[in-house]
Amino acid sequence: MAKFVPVEPFDLVIFGGTGDLAMRKLLPSLFHRDIDDQISDDSRIVAVSRREMSHEAFIETVQSALRRFLPEGHFDESVWQRFASRLSYYAVDVLEEDGWGELAGAVGAHTDRVRVFYLATAPQLFGPIATALGRHELQHGQTRIVLEKPVGSDLESARAVNGAVGAVFSEDQVYRIDHYLGKESVQNLLALRFSNSLFEPLWRRGTVDHVEITVAEDIGVGTRGEFYDRTGALVDMVQNHLLQLLCLVAMEPPAGLDPAQIRGEKLKVLRALRPITELDVEASTVRGQYRRGAVHGEAVSGYGEETGIESSSTETFVAIKAMIDNWRWADVPFYLRTGKRLPMKTSHIVVQFSPVAHSIFPPQTGRPEPNQLTIRLQPDEGVTLSLMTKEPGPGGFNLRSLPLNLTFSEQFHVRYPDAYERLLMEVLRGNQALFMHREEVESAWAWIDDVRNGWEQRGQPVVPYAAGTWGPTDSALLVGRDERRWLDPTE
Ligand code: BG6
Repeated sequence: MAKFVPVEPFDLVIFGGTGDLAMRKLLPSLFHRDIDDQISDDSRIVAVSRREMSHEAFIETVQSALRRFLPEGHFDESVWQRFASRLSYYAVDVLEEDGWGELAGAVGAHTDRVRVFYLATAPQLFGPIATALGRHELQHGQTRIVLEKPVGSDLESARAVNGAVGAVFSEDQVYRIDHYLGKESVQNLLALRFSNSLFEPLWRRGTVDHVEITVAEDIGVGTRGEFYDRTGALVDMVQNHLLQLLCLVAMEPPAGLDPAQIRGEKLKVLRALRPITELDVEASTVRGQYRRGAVHGEAVSGYGEETGIESSSTETFVAIKAMIDNWRWADVPFYLRTGKRLPMKTSHIVVQFSPVAHSIFPPQTGRPEPNQLTIRLQPDEGVTLSLMTKEPGPGGFNLRSLPLNLTFSEQFHVRYPDAYERLLMEVLRGNQALFMHREEVESAWAWIDDVRNGWEQRGQPVVPYAAGTWGPTDSALLVGRDERRWLDPTE
C-alpha cells in the first residue's frame, strides 16, 4: 500500500468556506489526511464567507458536518482536537472592502510557506476574488489558486475568468479542478493504458470499433434546482467530466507524467474533436428530461415537480456521438451519455473491439462476438475483458463469450479515498498534472458552445423520459442507427 508523505506546512484559505462543497467534501477530505498524519502540525485552514459567524459557531458547524459526512466510524475525537485547532473563520464580502484587512492580517504574515486560495464559490466571483487578492498583496511565489468547476458558463466567460485570474496569478499557480481526475479509478486508466504493453497496439482505429463513456446517476437534481436549471447536463457533466474521460482514453501516450506532457496530450484530443454544429446536431445528439417514474423500485417525481419549474427546457440527460479527427481515431465514434434519474449510479467506459476478420467456425458453433473491455469507474471499480471460449464437452464445438473480471476491492483491501483528498494534496505539493490547463478548459467550452448553438438554431427539444429508465428511446436510436448498442450493466 502507498505510504503517506507529509506535505509542507501550509495556509489554506477556502472562499465559500461554509458552503456545501466545503462541508461535504473539502473539510472531510482534509480531516482524512489529518487522520493519516499527512498534515504538519502548524498548517492552518481558514474559512471565508460573507456572513458573520463566531469562531465557536464555525467550529460547531464543522464538527457536525464531519460527523454527518465522514463514513461511519471515521470521526476520531483526538484527531478532531488537532483539526479544530487549525481552523479559523473570517467574514469577508468579496465584492466590497469589508473583511479583507482582517483576512490579510491573518494570512499575510507567513510569506515563506505554501499558501492556497481555494475558490469554492460561484464562478462569477473568481475574477473579483483574484483581483482583490492581488490588491491586498496576498499572492507571493508560493501561492496557488484553486478554481472549482465550472470555470465560466461559456467560452467567452471562461476567457474572462481566466484573464482576470491570469492578471494576478501565473498559469503555473492556477489549479482548475475536475474532481473526476482525482478519482482512483480514473487515474487507474493511465495505469491500464500505459503500464500494460497489451493494449497500446490495439488502441486505435482498425481494432477498436467504438468507445462508450457513460456517467449515469440515479439521483435527481434535489435542492440544486435553481442552479441546475441554468446549467443542464451538457455543461454540468459533459463539458468537464465526460470530456476529460474522453481525453484520457483517446490521448497519445505522454512521454512522462509531467503536467505539461499530460495536459499537452489531452489538449490535442480536444482540439481534434470534430465540431458539432446546427448541420448535424440533431443526428449527433439527444437531449432528455426526466418525468415521474420509479428508481430502485421507489416512485420519484419528475424534474418539473422537483424544481417547481414546470416549463423548463433544461436537459437532465444528454447523449452525443463524438468524432475525433486524427490518425488514431478517424471514423471511430465515441458515444457519450450522462443523465440524472437513470436506473442506477454507474460510470463506465467500454472499448468495443472490432469483429474477427474472418470466422473459421461454422454458423452452428455460434458467432465469435467482438471482444469488449469494460472499465468500471464507479461503483464496483474494476475491469472486465470479454473473451471467446469453447464450451467444454466432447461433442460439437460451441463458442461462448466469457468475462475475465478484475474487481479492485477483491484485490486491494483499502478504503478508496475521496477524489478531493488526492486533489488537495496535489495542490499543496504543487503538482498540476491532475488539473486542467487554461487552454483545455477553453477548448472544451468551444466544442460545447457549438453544440448549444446548434440546439438553439434547430430548436432541438428536450425529449421526456421516465425516471428509472436509460433516457429517451432516441438515445438507443443514436447508437442503433450505427448498428451498435449501449452497454446495459444490469445484463
Ligand atoms: C458534479 C455535478 O460535478 O458531479 C453533479 O455538478 C454530479 O451534478 C456530480 O452529481 C457527480 O459526481 P460523482 O463523483 O458523484 O460521480
